[in-house]
Amino acid sequence: LADETLTDADILADPVAKIAAVGGTRHPGIPLPEDLFGESRKNSEGIDLNDRTILGRVATKVSTPLNWKPTQATLGAKEAVDRAVGGFAGWSARSIEERAACLDRLGNLLEEHRDTLMAIAVQEAKKTIPDALGEVREAVDFCRYYAAQARTGLQPIELPGPTGERNLLRMEGRGAWLCIAPWNFPLAIFLGQVTAALVTGNTVIAKPAPQTPEIAAYAVGLAHSAGIPEDALVLAIGGPEMGQALVEDTRIAGVAFTGSTATAKRIARTLLADDERPIVPLIAETGGINAMIVDSTALPEQVVQDVVTSAFRSAGQRCSALRVLLLQEEIADRTLEMLSGAMDTLIVGDPADPRTDVGPVIDQAAYDKLMGHRAASQNRWIKTVDVPQDGLFVPPTAIEVDTIEDVRREWFGPILHVTSWKAGELGETVARVNASGFGLTMGLHSRIARAADAVEDVAKVGNLYVNRSMIGAIVGSQPFGGEGQSGTGPKAGGPHYLPRFCAERVTSTDT
Ligand code: NAD
Ligand code: ALA
Repeated sequence: LADETLTDADILADPVAKIAAVGGTRHPGIPLPEDLFGESRKNSEGIDLNDRTILGRVATKVSTPLNWKPTQATLGAKEAVDRAVGGFAGWSARSIEERAACLDRLGNLLEEHRDTLMAIAVQEAKKTIPDALGEVREAVDFCRYYAAQARTGLQPIELPGPTGERNLLRMEGRGAWLCIAPWNFPLAIFLGQVTAALVTGNTVIAKPAPQTPEIAAYAVGLAHSAGIPEDALVLAIGGPEMGQALVEDTRIAGVAFTGSTATAKRIARTLLADDERPIVPLIAETGGINAMIVDSTALPEQVVQDVVTSAFRSAGQRCSALRVLLLQEEIADRTLEMLSGAMDTLIVGDPADPRTDVGPVIDQAAYDKLMGHRAASQNRWIKTVDVPQDGLFVPPTAIEVDTIEDVRREWFGPILHVTSWKAGELGETVARVNASGFGLTMGLHSRIARAADAVEDVAKVGNLYVNRSMIGAIVGSQPFGGEGQSGTGPKAGGPHYLPRFCAERVTSTDT
């Protein structure tokens, strides 16, 4: 398979048939390109589902170096906040309908510019093509979902007054919000935060991760074209120092942050450090040490497929990804044998190649950290795979550990830790997973309904996935976010997200 070369002409002629033909022997767990369209079908409205030339168009664009440059001059932290504070009166005076309409227009523009956005995601964030498509689809979903939520959920509510007064509850913008995004969802999470803050009447200072400024700048350009004023959405490009300077600005009315737990805590400390400063909300969505528990009744083929997807897709660079696989002793050997076979079918390589399952990790620092951990565990490797030598490719690797407690931090890459548990100890196993203090995602594979119900009752995680993979939450259907060390809530893409961005005000009038 590795020797097969697809030309652009092949791809353009009939990408799905051609790739399915060369990839026909692949493990069913690794999505063939058709699944790419299946995912978008599940996840979208109004997309042309017969558009089979997308792979070819994106592959062609990816081979063209990026020459797009941000239109907005780079601003310092103070200037960015000045501008967003100055824009608040105008933007917050717009009606809910006007703000929601801007989000709908932005969603349409994202779809129109989908191929370019995908190409930037592949080049800049090193996303595989299926992941780049998912990225754009999720961003569109956020725009449309939050627009719809705003139209229904932000309307003033008249409340009964037992003493005869008229009571009116209004949801209003708080001021200039700071939105700080990670590199691993540089469009979807970036725009998810931004659109929620904007539609609720806030202005926004949007700080993308330093690894992914281009896609953020492109998206902000589209948002301005969609009618969001330049002083309502202000881009602040920079790294941790820029983020820190923005958080320190006491005019910030709230912070939406997605990234590591350590950074979230630092932001929380900064927000509370100044006694004179207003108390402002912090929405923090952070990392996890996510486990999947498999009992002896699970379907082995499905388990293996879901493990491969959850641990290795996106090169393991999802906060939701599987980090610790917990197999009931009786099925451990057989499952690991099958997992090893499935890992042999993974194609690791150039993210712009439509056949690639696992691309490189984001940067040298991430590569060094992951390779160091992998090397230190070499005597416990269950399975690893060959990867190209010329790039930041971390070999997907399964490592045996004695207990879940041996995995003490989030390893943000394609490294899976595996251990076992004894029959009759399901409850204790869940308790030990809970004890990590993280609470983002958990997987369970079992065909005993009672077991699933019991785990659902006690698992302290934001998203529990039963008999399926643990990644790819869908906006509006699977609100996403964790608890404990994994975040504050509310869940992105859920019905309770927008209110957290609002100031609630009640006027009581004697009638
Ligand atoms: P990170 O914490 O290093 O950086 C995130 C953002 O914070 C970046 O924009 C960075 O520049 C900024 N930042 C860094 N220091 C700052 C400071 N002192 N003040 C203000 N801003 C600062 O995280 P990352 O490496 O970009 O992203 C990976 C992490 O994000 C992983 O831990 C992953 O689990 C987590 N993540 C969580 C979710 C979720 O929804 N829970 C989603 C995606 C990623
Ligand atoms: N929302 C992303 C997922 O579910 C992180 O994988």
